[in-house]
Amino acid sequence: MFSAALLCVFICWTATGHADHHQHCRSPNMTGYFSMMGQRAETRASGQFTYDSTNKKLRLQPNSSFPWNATLDLDLLVFFEEGILYKIDSKNQSCEKKSLQCTKNPFALPSDATYMTTMTSGSVSIEGEGLKFQVWTTPTADSKGQNIMCLTMGCLPLSTIYVSESSTSIFSNMNIELEIKDPDVFVVPSFCQGLPAEEAPEGTVYGFYDEFL
Ligand SMILES: *[C@@H]1O[C@H](CO)[C@@H](O)[C@H](O)[C@H]1NC(C)=O
Ligand SMILES: *[C@@H]1O[C@H](CO)[C@@H](O)[C@H](O)[C@H]1NC(C)=O
Ligand SMILES: *[C@@H]1O[C@H](CO)[C@@H](O)[C@H](O)[C@H]1NC(C)=O
Ligand SMILES: *[C@@H]1O[C@H](CO)[C@@H](O)[C@H](O)[C@H]1NC(C)=O
Repeated sequence: MFSAALLCVFICWTATGHADHHQHCRSPNMTGYFSMMGQRAETRASGQFTYDSTNKKLRLQPNSSFPWNATLDLDLLVFFEEGILYKIDSKNQSCEKKSLQCTKNPFALPSDATYMTTMTSGSVSIEGEGLKFQVWTTPTADSKGQNIMCLTMGCLPLSTIYVSESSTSIFSNMNIELEIKDPDVFVVPSFCQGLPAEEAPEGTVYGFYDEFL
């Protein structure tokens, strides 16, 4: 599952950056599964994602049928354009609304990303046994870390490695389908409406990845 991601790390730690001109790409609308691992595998999350690439909306929903032994049970609804993240707890009908200053996430190539290289995971020469992918890198908001992203040639995000000053997290996406299967996942639940947005403390930047730290 993480082979592409690990290869990605390897490349980024060994490559000296033979960057050439490469077209920045935009992911399509997608539904699929994601898994996340961080803090030496102590933090694990997984579930279903739905991403609207036109309106920059994301929904993550935990799914216990996914064999991942998750430690984080996150249900998130994110409006990247508006800079709002809802952390939803359907069981007890509660919600937190947070203001986002950083819009980077593992489902879209950041606009300030730099192309690094193109590689093949698996075999280059055996038909059906190789997956060609592109690697892009972006500094984190505080410039102390790196956001390394691997995408298929058609811009489907495969994996993202988020390295910050204090932690490293790996996000992987699987079984992607090019449609929004259920548009209702982007509807703000009634119990989340009218809440004030929590602002990040003065001088700090809050982003999607902070939910997983
Ligand atoms: C993505 O889905 C939204 C509806 O949620 C739609 O408005 C938009 O046109 C779709 N974008 C693409 C590129 O298909
Ligand atoms: C969880 O995933 C399974 C497939 O692995 C799917 O059939 C089911 O609908 C999903 N449940 C939810 C609540 O999305
Ligand atoms: C799931 O995680 C818990 C705690 O980390 C561990 O005790 C348990 O054995 C794990 N289960 C599986 C199936 O990996
Ligand atoms: C609802 O769930 C959250 C997270 O599990 C918890 O922090 C909170 O105390 C719960 N609220 C109630 C009213 O049970």
